[in-house]
Amino acid sequence: MARRKIIAGNWKMNMTPSEAVKLCAELKDLVKSDEADVVYCVPAIDIVPVVEAVKGTNVEVGAENMYFEEKGAYTGEISAAMLKDAGVKYVIIGHSERRDYFKEDDVLLNKKVKKAIEAGLTPILCCGESLEQREMGVTMDWIRLQIKSDLVDVTADQVKELVIAYEPIWAIGTGKTATTEQAQEVCKGIRDCIAEMYDDATAAAVRIQYGGSVNAGNAAELFAQPDIDGGLVGGASLKADFGKIVNYK
Ligand code: PGA
Repeated sequence: MARRKIIAGNWKMNMTPSEAVKLCAELKDLVKSDEADVVYCVPAIDIVPVVEAVKGTNVEVGAENMYFEEKGAYTGEISAAMLKDAGVKYVIIGHSERRDYFKEDDVLLNKKVKKAIEAGLTPILCCGESLEQREMGVTMDWIRLQIKSDLVDVTADQVKELVIAYEPIWAIGTGKTATTEQAQEVCKGIRDCIAEMYDDATAAAVRIQYGGSVNAGNAAELFAQPDIDGGLVGGASLKADFGKIVNYK
C-alpha cells in the first residue's frame, strides 16, 4: 500500500499567538490537499489558538516538544496529556536544535517517544548528522544509533504509525539542501534499519520525511523519491510558499 505523504511545518520560535492566527487564515486555501497530511507544528503558546483557527480545515496541529513525565513539579514543561487535551495530534521529538542547544540525549528522547505514543500522539522523530560526521563518512552509523536508541521498547505496531524526519544538520536553515540522492540514500538507510529492527511490513509502513531547506523549488524532486514521504519544513512553512510545497506536484 502506498504511503500517504505528510508535509509538516516546523514554526520553531516564530509567530506570536495573534500572528499565528493570521498566518493560518492566509494559508487556509493554499494548503488544501487530498493527497497529503498537512501539519503545523507550532510553539506551545500558539497551540490553543491554532487548533481553533484550523478547525474545519485539513490541517492538523503538532507541538514542537513535550516532557515525558505524567505531571508534577517540572516547571516550564508541557505534558503529553496537556497536548492531547488541547487537540494536538503530532509532536516533534529530538529536533537537532533541541539535541544541540538543550542537550537532549537519546535516553531522554526514547522516554519522550514512548510517552507520546502512550498518550495517543504521533511522534515526528528527528535524526540527522552534522557536516563533520558526513565528511568523516559516519552518517549512516550515527543515524542508525539515533534510531535504535530512540526506539528502544517501541513495538512494530507503534513504529508503523510513527513519522521519522531525516534532517541533516548542515542543511537546516542554511539554504543548503541535501541533494536528492543524499536525501533518498539516508531515508532508504533509515527504512532498512527499521526492517532489520522489526520486519519488512513495519519498514514499508513507517513514513520518513526529509527536512532541511525544503522550499517550493526543490520539494517536487525530493518528495518524488521512493523513500521520502514528505517533508519537515522550517523557514518556508511561515509563508505562502508552504502551499506550493504541500501541492508540490
Ligand atoms: P528549514 O528547517 O526548512 O528552515 O531548513 C527545517 C527544520 O529544522 O525542521
